[in-house]
Amino acid sequence: MTCAAGIDPTPAAGLFASIMPILTGHARLAGILGWPAAHSRSPRLHGFWLERHGIDGAYIPLPVRPERFAEAVRSLADLGFRGANVTLPHKEAAFAVCDAVAPEARRAGAVNTLTFRDDGTIEGTNTDGYGFLESVREAVPTWRAGAGSAVLLGAGGSARAVAAALLDAGCPRLTLVNRTRARAEALAQELGGAIGVAERAPLDEAALLVNTTSLGMQGQPPLAVDLAPLPRGAVVVDLVYVPLETPLLAAARARGLAAVDGLGMLLHQARPGFARWFGVEPEVDAALRDFVAAGIPARAP
Ligand SMILES: NC(=O)c1ccc[n+]([C@@H]2O[C@H](COP(=O)([O-])OP(=O)(O)OC[C@H]3O[C@@H](n4cnc5c(N)ncnc54)[C@H](OP(=O)(O)O)[C@@H]3O)[C@@H](O)[C@H]2O)c1
Repeated sequence: MTCAAGIDPTPAAGLFASIMPILTGHARLAGILGWPAAHSRSPRLHGFWLERHGIDGAYIPLPVRPERFAEAVRSLADLGFRGANVTLPHKEAAFAVCDAVAPEARRAGAVNTLTFRDDGTIEGTNTDGYGFLESVREAVPTWRAGAGSAVLLGAGGSARAVAAALLDAGCPRLTLVNRTRARAEALAQELGGAIGVAERAPLDEAALLVNTTSLGMQGQPPLAVDLAPLPRGAVVVDLVYVPLETPLLAAARARGLAAVDGLGMLLHQARPGFARWFGVEPEVDAALRDFVAAGIPARAP
């Protein structure tokens, strides 16, 4: 595939990664606020789309210390940035700088996408839940949130966004299982609706199993869960994407179950921000996936 500048944006095309875009004075700017920000794959992801669509713009890493966060965000708006993504440790702090917060961000308890509006105000939203749902729909087109109950392992920040998205999409029953049970109970109470907490995952009736813990990530112990009780049509999703195929997903595939890795969520959650800042609806496809996945181990050693 070639993109706007006639360059093949595949991992083999080392040239692509080394070309600096030449911006005009009208260039649209966005970036990712984090501390640190160097590990983020978002500049690579948005950079691919900018290049593909031939957009006069740039998306850059913005490392900002927590104590300077609010000041930095306001400065970006003053400097003409269109917006920014927000990652750890700023996702909660980002609420305070927003003049308007979308319902998805309130439900998720975090802002991951800021838009600097023309009237000088700042709008915050959260696209993690959207990215999660879209990634499962892309990988398993027949999947419907309302088709059956779901089990979610974990009760941290990503669990909250995913749980809220599943409930809002019509999941009839959601069970949280977490090492620290009290945290799961607090989350269930806050979200409300068809959500409960269990000590052991009720897999025999689950249409969906989602790992939102960091277990299975490179350098972490694997997630110890026996998938045998899962019904045949169940879908298994792991938010972890380093490695791409975690031991959990390998076990799901070995049982013939649909297995969805965390990279798709990362790619899809970026789409709404890109569309707002750069004015083009970007697509998630194999070329983007390969480009962003370059260097991520395919499976655990
Ligand atoms: N694919 C994506 O786009 C995407 C987006 C966001 C996050 N993620 C991934 O999702 C994972 C979680 O992120 P997060 O932001 O939700 O983190 P977080 O808020 O720190 O929550 C971590 C969760 O993992 C559990 N946990 C950690 N170590 C554990 C252990 N040794 N045994 C059992 N449970 C353990 C925690 O349980 P306790 O409550 O008991 O501590 C908690 O439920 C990370 O791997 C992250 O990379 C992926």
